[in-house]
Amino acid sequence: MSFPTEPARFEPPRHAPAGRHQSAAASRRRRLTITLIVTGSIVVLAVVAAVVFAVLMPSATPQAAATSPTATRTPTPTPTPTPTPTFDKTQFSLDDPMSIWVVADKHRPINPQDFVPSDLVDADVPAVYNSTLREPAARAVEAMFAAYTAETGESMRLQSAFRDYETQVEVYANNNQDDTQSARPGFSEHQTGLAMDISPASGECALDECFADTLPGQWLAANAWKYGFMLRYPNGLTNITGYAFEPWHYRFVGLELAAELHNTGVQTLEEFFGLDPAPDYL
Ligand code: DAL
Ligand code: ZN
Repeated sequence: MSFPTEPARFEPPRHAPAGRHQSAAASRRRRLTITLIVTGSIVVLAVVAAVVFAVLMPSATPQAAATSPTATRTPTPTPTPTPTPTFDKTQFSLDDPMSIWVVADKHRPINPQDFVPSDLVDADVPAVYNSTLREPAARAVEAMFAAYTAETGESMRLQSAFRDYETQVEVYANNNQDDTQSARPGFSEHQTGLAMDISPASGECALDECFADTLPGQWLAANAWKYGFMLRYPNGLTNITGYAFEPWHYRFVGLELAAELHNTGVQTLEEFFGLDPAPDYL
């Protein structure tokens, strides 16, 4: 005989555990879904906030500032020499031999021919022959030499300063009357008391082109304008000045004009004042 079995009754319900598993899985899926939705929303909100912030305040972040179109629209200006609008080129005479702007060249003799400045003094600086100059030039060269010594620990000296007409007769003769090296008597800037030849205290490269490569030669080329001087016979401009390169010959023109020449890059008085080039005597 057999007894009906009620296996279903005693067997663990087939679907009951599965249902619990399904319920747990569904719960996990719900939690996962909610987590994903929340996380996604946060991410989306963060992205939107970042975009809005970047649009409204483009320069607030380094990246935005670095790539800002404004940066490319306003490049760092390149310094270009420009004349001072207020610079008055007529404030001093170019003809009066007592003017600090007097221009002496092969077309413009010293007038009168036997002119001697009225304010000659001896500058308190080392000198080979004498240190006689017009007073403003003397004070300026004292300041310039002192600055050179303070900066470098070395010294400069005057190789030649004021020369009167008779002295220039000798100088011109000693230079074999070479018109590219020496001015004829009555035409030399040295007669104005505003020009000077400078050499190192050692005498190295005195009155020689190699002076341009010495420490004082380089220093003067860079700094003389700050004391009111200009290099009067620059390299390569003989067709304008009439003289070969003289890296040792400096001319006092005053602080204002020296700065203007420096700032504009104009190298000769002839060009600055619109005078004729003077390569030869008339
Ligand atoms: N060496 C310059 C030009 C002069 O003799 O004045
Ligand atoms: Zn000279």
